[in-house]
Amino acid sequence: ARTAILISGRGSNMMALVEAARAADFPAEVVCVVSNRADAKGLEFAAANGIATRVIDHKAYPSREAFEAALDQYLRSMHVEAIALAGFMRVITAQFISGWDGRILNIHPSLLPAYKGLHTHERAIADGAKVAGCSVHLVTPELDGGPVLLQAEVSVLPGDTPDTLAARVLEQEHRIYPQALAWLANRIIEDRE
Ligand code: GRF
Repeated sequence: ARTAILISGRGSNMMALVEAARAADFPAEVVCVVSNRADAKGLEFAAANGIATRVIDHKAYPSREAFEAALDQYLRSMHVEAIALAGFMRVITAQFISGWDGRILNIHPSLLPAYKGLHTHERAIADGAKVAGCSVHLVTPELDGGPVLLQAEVSVLPGDTPDTLAARVLEQEHRIYPQALAWLANRIIEDRE
């Protein structure tokens, strides 16, 4: 299934997806990486790996709808079938989502439904949580609220800071995101047949 990855920064999850998609039997191919920020570090990796990259700067558009229309148009022009949000820091609207009918994934650094939104690790540590983790979910109009496909847990250790916990969780993100994308891509391929 032709897959676009949307990033805003570092792009380590994007890299994990690109590496997984190199396997001949992986059901998704990464056809483009889109960033809303020109300075996203991940763009260099994508370009160096021969993937089409595109910056669609939200600040260049008068409204969220206009930004999303440009994004949608680019994705359609690339014949994209699935979208993986990977550290993409824009909220997307119900209108955009409805055009992609169950085909958008997101990775979130918490065990949803706990800790939706930002600063998840900081909040987990402040609460004295013993377990943290990450979730891959289908994107619906409710922020971080769509059906969860896969989760991974890690221990919160004594002395953890948001950064040390984030690093432990990130390893698991890189493991489960490719698995979840493979699931969605297989479903799309079956739908086609
Ligand atoms: C990850 O922790 C992801 O779960 C969250 O933002 C971070 C992005 O990191 N949504 P990266 O850009 O994939 O390295």
